[in-house]
Order: sequence, then C-alpha cells, then structure tokens
Amino acid sequence: MHAAGGNWRNYKVARRVRESETVVSLHLVAADGSPLAPFEPGQFLTFRLEGADGRPVPRNYSISSDPAERSHYRISVRREPGGFGSGVMHDQMPEGALVEASGPKGRFTPDPASGRAVLLLAGGIGITPLAAMAHALARQGTRPVWLIHACAKGPAMPFARELSDLADRNPSFRRIAVLGSPTGADRKAGLYQHEGRITRALLRSVLPLDDYEAYLCGPAPFMQAMFDALLQLGVRQERIAYEFFGPARVLAATHEVPAETIQPSEVVPINSGREAEGQDSMVSFTLSGRSALWDGAQPTLLDFAEAQGLSPPFSCRNGICNTCLCGIEGEVRYLEEPLEMPEEGQALLCCSVPVGPVRLRL
Ligand SMILES: Cc1cc2nc3c(=O)[nH]c(=O)nc-3n(C[C@H](O)[C@H](O)[C@H](O)COP(=O)(O)OP(=O)(O)OC[C@H]3O[C@@H](n4cnc5c(N)ncnc54)[C@H](O)[C@@H]3O)c2cc1C
Ligand code: FES
Repeated sequence: MHAAGGNWRNYKVARRVRESETVVSLHLVAADGSPLAPFEPGQFLTFRLEGADGRPVPRNYSISSDPAERSHYRISVRREPGGFGSGVMHDQMPEGALVEASGPKGRFTPDPASGRAVLLLAGGIGITPLAAMAHALARQGTRPVWLIHACAKGPAMPFARELSDLADRNPSFRRIAVLGSPTGADRKAGLYQHEGRITRALLRSVLPLDDYEAYLCGPAPFMQAMFDALLQLGVRQERIAYEFFGPARVLAATHEVPAETIQPSEVVPINSGREAEGQDSMVSFTLSGRSALWDGAQPTLLDFAEAQGLSPPFSCRNGICNTCLCGIEGEVRYLEEPLEMPEEGQALLCCSVPVGPVRLRL
C-alpha cells in the first residue's frame, strides 16, 4: 500500500454483496474511521491497484450508492474476463481488505438547478452511476424520472430489486427493465417489461412528449444507438450527457436527424453555467495559428479546442491517462485534481479551464 497523500485515501472494504452473476459490490469506509466526503450522483473513485510488477495501476469505479447514504461508498464491479482491475476487485478484496482511492470526482452529474424531466438509459454495468442518480432524483421527487436498463438476461442485471423497490416507493420515478434474451426463469418471474433492445419505437411509446434531459452509460454501441435514437426523437444534443467506461469518445449523429436537434439554439445545455470562470480569456492555438475567446460555453479546454475544429489527442477525458497533455503558456484551473499534476508549462486539457489568456501548443 502506498502512503495516501493529497486526494488519496485508504479505504476498508466493510462489506461485499453479490449483485448479479458477474457483478460484486464493495462497501467502502475510510480506513481511519473518519467521515466520507459527500459526492454528487454520477461521480466515481479512481483506485490505485498494485500491478504484477509492483507499479500502481489506476482503475475507475462509479459510486453506485445513494448519495444520501453517508456511512459508506458502494462501488459495483463487473468481472471482465481476463481483466486485471475487475479481477482484483472480485478476487483480492475480501471484507477487511484495504485499498487506496482518490475522489469522488467526475462531471457526469445531473444539474441540481434543473427542473426538467430526466431519462436515465443504462446498458449492463453502465447502471452504476445512474443508480446513484436514480436514488438522488427520486428523493428530490420534483422531476419525473424514467430509468431504462437493458441487460442480456435477468441473472446479469444488478440492482433489479433495489431499483424496482425505489420505483414502488416514489411515484415520480419509473423503471423499465429490458432483457435481450430472457431465460425461462425470467419469463416466469416477469421481472422485466420489454424483450429485445431499447429502440426508438420503445422510447417513443414509453416517454411522454416532454422537455427532458438524458444521461447515458453503457457499452459504446449502446451509447451510439441511444444517442442516435434520442436525436431522431427530437431531443437536443446539448441535453444528452454520457460517460464511457472505456476510452472516452465524442458521440456524433450517425443517422439523419431533425436539424433543430443539433443546431446551436437558445436552449441552455445540461450543466451549463457551472463554470463561467475565465470568461473573455483569449485562447490561442500556436501551431494552427487559431485563436478564440473563451466564453464558458464549453466545459473544458479540450471541448473548446474541438469546438474550434481541432482534434487534440485524448483517451479518458477524466484527468487520468495524460493523453491530452499539452504545452501551455498561461494559467489553468483544474475542475478535478488530475491523477498526476502536470509539470510547469504543461496542462491536461480534458479537465481544465483557462484563468486569463492562454497559449496552447496545438
Ligand atoms: C469513469 C469510469 C467509471 C467506471 N465505472 C465502472 C463501474 O462502476 N463498474 C465497472 O465494472 N466498471 C467501471 N468502469 C470500467 C473500469 O474502470 C475498468 O475499465 C473495467 O473494470 C475493466 O478493467 P480491467 O482492469 O478489469 O480490465 P483490463 O485488464 O483493462 O482489460 C479490459 C478488457 O480487455 C481485455 N484485454 C486486456 N488485455 C488484453 C490484451 N492484451 N489483448 C486482448 N484483450 C485484452 C480483457 O480481457 C478485458 O476484457 C469505469 C470506467 C470509467 C472510465
Ligand atoms: S484525456 Fe486522459 S488525462 Fe486528459
């Protein structure tokens, strides 16, 4: 175990719970018994696991528990066949084990100031951040919430009982379970509402015409299909937030969609206005000779560079992999502390905003 400094803390596994055939939850408490930091639904922890050669290996796991539950963080890990981190979490983390993590962090969180209806779309293990959102939004009780969770079959579906109980207790929260290939036992138990995939027709049939915002998490093909379906149903692009569990991607429509869904408009995007800092700072891209005024409309310098037509390299978009490291003159502020703080003269674009004028080597 490494000494925990900065944002790193040592946690103890207080409890293990099997959630499905392939998913196990670990309930984590601070190893020194101190209170846990509050988290926003949708945030995750970065774990520092020990690799075979003794070197630290970072892995992220979303907090799947109710943010109002302050006694522990629950993370829920699906075993990936041959996967290192999920293997450690499944096989080497008995109750009482210690593990280092930093966070909670991440910007895949519903805007608490919004009153719009919410659509949560989960594919498989992508349910973890959305389960925390479901608890928080159901408790809030002021916004209609639909959670649609797709899995291959019942035994692979984590949190089925927990979330159907939540729906029973909260009239503003509705849950729809979708199974791709239900087993005979699934059919007998009748614990799902739809068979097959989440299609545009299904979304249209269950969702009232409403002004809602959507949160997506699941495998890449699922995310692309849901993104396209929502755009085709007229949901505006700026109202669709998503998080990838693997390397991050920027989703773009792959089918023709109504023009107004992807046009800039007067509609305020999800989470806009949270980071107006640096407004009116000139951002210059020295290699391409471009420059533009930072107006706070993009969440990070990486998004801003992309909006100017540049394609900086990236992978995690979460301050973990260093792929977006870029030479810089000027100052930035980090929205979340990166795993390793870059040296002077360099910045991680995916998690920073300018503080005054900056010149980026792009
Ligand atoms: C923000 C965020 C939140 C996340 N939250 C969760 C969560 O709540 N729950 C969850 O389960 N996961 C979550 N993840 C994913 C998680 O971080 C890990 O990526 C996941 O557990 C797989 O890691 P691993 O070390 O087990 O697999 P890895 O060892 O990284 O391998 C991944 C896959 O690649 C295959 N593979 C590995 N090496 C090779 C090779 N050389 N050739 C071919 N194939 C190979 C493995 O068999 C495996 O299937 C999240 C990720 C992010 C970015
Ligand atoms: S893309 Fe991974 S740190 Fe920025």
